Amino acid sequence: MATAQVGVVIVGAGPAGLVLGNLLLDRGIDCVILERRDRAAVEGRARAGFLAAHSVRVLTEHGLSAGLLARGKTHTTCLFRSDRGEFTLDYGKSGLGEPHTVYPQQELVRDLIAEYLRRGGEIRFGAEAEEVAGEAAGEAAEGRVRVRGGADVTGRYVAGCDGHRGIGRAALTAHGTRTARRDHGVSWLAVLVAAPPSLEAVGYALHERGFAGHMARTAAVTRYYLQCPRGTAPADWSEDRIWTELATRLRTAEFGPLRHGAVLEKAVVDLRSDVLESPGAGRLWLAGDAAGLISPSAAKGANLAILQAELLARALEGALAHGDGTGLARYAADCLPRVWRAHEFSHWMSGLLHGPAGEEDEARYGRALQYARLESLRTSRTHQDFFAENYTGI
Ligand code: APR
Repeated sequence: MATAQVGVVIVGAGPAGLVLGNLLLDRGIDCVILERRDRAAVEGRARAGFLAAHSVRVLTEHGLSAGLLARGKTHTTCLFRSDRGEFTLDYGKSGLGEPHTVYPQQELVRDLIAEYLRRGGEIRFGAEAEEVAGEAAGEAAEGRVRVRGGADVTGRYVAGCDGHRGIGRAALTAHGTRTARRDHGVSWLAVLVAAPPSLEAVGYALHERGFAGHMARTAAVTRYYLQCPRGTAPADWSEDRIWTELATRLRTAEFGPLRHGAVLEKAVVDLRSDVLESPGAGRLWLAGDAAGLISPSAAKGANLAILQAELLARALEGALAHGDGTGLARYAADCLPRVWRAHEFSHWMSGLLHGPAGEEDEARYGRALQYARLESLRTSRTHQDFFAENYTGI
């Protein structure tokens, strides 16, 4: 049994799905968002928080930036620490870079949901999409989504914005779309603490015990990362162990103490990346993590999701409002070069931040390269410009 057909059925209310939904409503295209979790869970999920200037421009052009402009914080520098000292890289001033806006992702998600509903959009929370009908990626005349315990929802198109384990991706890969993937072989313990930031800027610490990162979120919450062995359980990391390890790797004895606070969340993230060779076909099109997962080493994930949502909204408008499918036909060619450039830089950052473990000759060689890359970044204007352009661009 099918319910009435809409223009676009969007699966997933993360940044990709919510930006897409808002942009479609702006263009007069009706849509429905299916989200398996409830609203409180979606709005409470702390994740990224680092918005590139392009993302802020897209959100501003579409009336979605009031919250982030009011409460977000602009960053133009980041800081590197190692046993050779510390230096600040002013990427906003290098001439090629632009500022970042730091705004917690869950606040952005809250703003996007409120605005989508204000514009008259429909979101069904607690609606788990079980499957996108297989023929959607082929010659089907419509997209059909099966919903657990409910009626099928059909639309002229389906947008899979349901993350990298989603059903949108599964339907495309079942239809023959291939994936390029890499396991970076590194894991991070991601910790959210109820404490103000300890550094002015994002901080990256290289240490023989592994990478440590400091990311400001709000005046009261800070995100820290600790490189940890693959397979580590978050439960193995007591608050004491976390603070001791952060102090060692961020070299507080030399550079001053960190502001402590309760650990709100801890989770282990394995750094993996993948890209679908084509982010859509027929009636089914993907955006965000569904189309490709990017390791968090350069904080590109949410920005790629917003970029893809913007491109997909334009392409779907062409198809639905003007009967012109060229935008959809070009969607992969529009996205993929930028996606791959972000992956290339993210991979470069991963090489900078993570020294190989152990004392073997190869590990020593790898660590020496890591330090050579850091030294080049400290001293070479060309290298700093490369960093600025890629760190802030999308
Ligand atoms: N049915 C309905 N909803 C689903 C289903 C399903 N079968 N599967 C997943 N979802 C929902 C999830 O609950 C989630 O709310 O899809 C949404 C996907 O959102 P994200 O994982 O945030 O993915 P995306 O919107 O692509 O954003 C990617 O944001 O959080 C960061 O690290 C992430 O940087 C990445 C970016």
